[in-house]
Amino acid sequence: MLINLDEARYLTTHDISACPETDPIKRATLLKEQHSEYGRAVAELFDARSKGKLPEHWFMDSDSSQQATPLAVADIRFQRIKRVLGDVTVHDVTCSIGTEGASCLAQGLDYVGSDLSLPRLVMARANVKAPFFQADALTPCTTADVIVADPARRAGGRRITNPEQLLPPLSALLGSYSQNLAVKCAPGLDFTEWEGLVSVVSVDGGVKEACLYTPGLAEGQRREAVVIRGGAVDKLSDSMPTADELAGPAGRYIIDPDGAVVRAGLVRQFAVREGLWMLDERIAYVTGDRIPHGYSGFEVLEQVPLKKLKAALAPHNPGSLEILVRGVDVDPDVLRKKLRPRGQRQMAVIVTRIGTQGVAFICNARQVGSNKSEVEE
Ligand SMILES: C[S@@+](CC[C@H](N)C(=O)[O-])C[C@H]1O[C@@H](n2cnc3c(N)ncnc32)[C@H](O)[C@@H]1O
Repeated sequence: MLINLDEARYLTTHDISACPETDPIKRATLLKEQHSEYGRAVAELFDARSKGKLPEHWFMDSDSSQQATPLAVADIRFQRIKRVLGDVTVHDVTCSIGTEGASCLAQGLDYVGSDLSLPRLVMARANVKAPFFQADALTPCTTADVIVADPARRAGGRRITNPEQLLPPLSALLGSYSQNLAVKCAPGLDFTEWEGLVSVVSVDGGVKEACLYTPGLAEGQRREAVVIRGGAVDKLSDSMPTADELAGPAGRYIIDPDGAVVRAGLVRQFAVREGLWMLDERIAYVTGDRIPHGYSGFEVLEQVPLKKLKAALAPHNPGSLEILVRGVDVDPDVLRKKLRPRGQRQMAVIVTRIGTQGVAFICNARQVGSNKSEVEE
């Protein structure tokens, strides 16, 4: 749902106190009584705020809140800009409701934001104390040192995978500026041609973005994974040591590297850093005798050929079963139906390929590595 310009102006200039009514129909009636034709926008604001993603006093609608960069992720971007270039001025050319601005200012950098959408600019001005103005990102009008852009990725509710369907399109955006750029993109796009840094960021296991940095912001790196878990930040990059041969038999645990590590192509660096090895050189599972702190993994009970999985699993009495598949053409939902896990025990099955053989690992349920190189449930 969208808040229009008139509604944004109303919301940001009136006292909008939280509505105690929880029943949606009664609440809509009450808000209409209190705010007449603006009742719908107030309800929309409360709904968006209730998601808890952004500061609770901010102005937003559900679309702008969904599109907003999580603050912890924006912080990573501006920390890099400050670390590499110092106290520069940043122009956020797709500023929306100002999320990146809040993070940029918190790092002590100068910030200016612009966007095509007037309602969003009205909300941004109420959210963040910084200059905001209307401009097309494809018509450069800035002397700022660094350009930050976060092209819109959804059209009509559908996820975009072609960078040219972004709003604004990636190539047009890149061609519009001579300054250093940081462009937030969907992690699924193909970045092989990008000559700067691709930094993939995840929060609590979910990959949030891939940010493209021009070489002047790259610190000599081409790939980076930033793993944020419970507020702690772990970083890996392609400047870390790797090894040519890492494959070996399964250790006590199989570790599913974080999605940011996998998508950044840094599984080998992760394995080497943690003293782990791989089940197969081309498959992104690592294995070893401990689960690295903050990462999750599975204690291996049995390794069986894929064809023998059902018979081998049944005596373990599996109940809720997490199924991970990588490197073989198996649909986890179809496999689950076939395995019929109707027992009591929480377990996991990892289906993968070693060389040309399909194999399955019957495992205990997912565990998280603790501080002391042991694991906690
Ligand atoms: C994904 S949102 C940005 C979200 C923002 N980074 C945040 O964290 O809140 C993309 C924004 O780009 C804006 N936009 C789309 N095309 C644009 C253009 N040509 N020039 C400027 N802004 C544009 C949209 O209005 C939208 O607010």
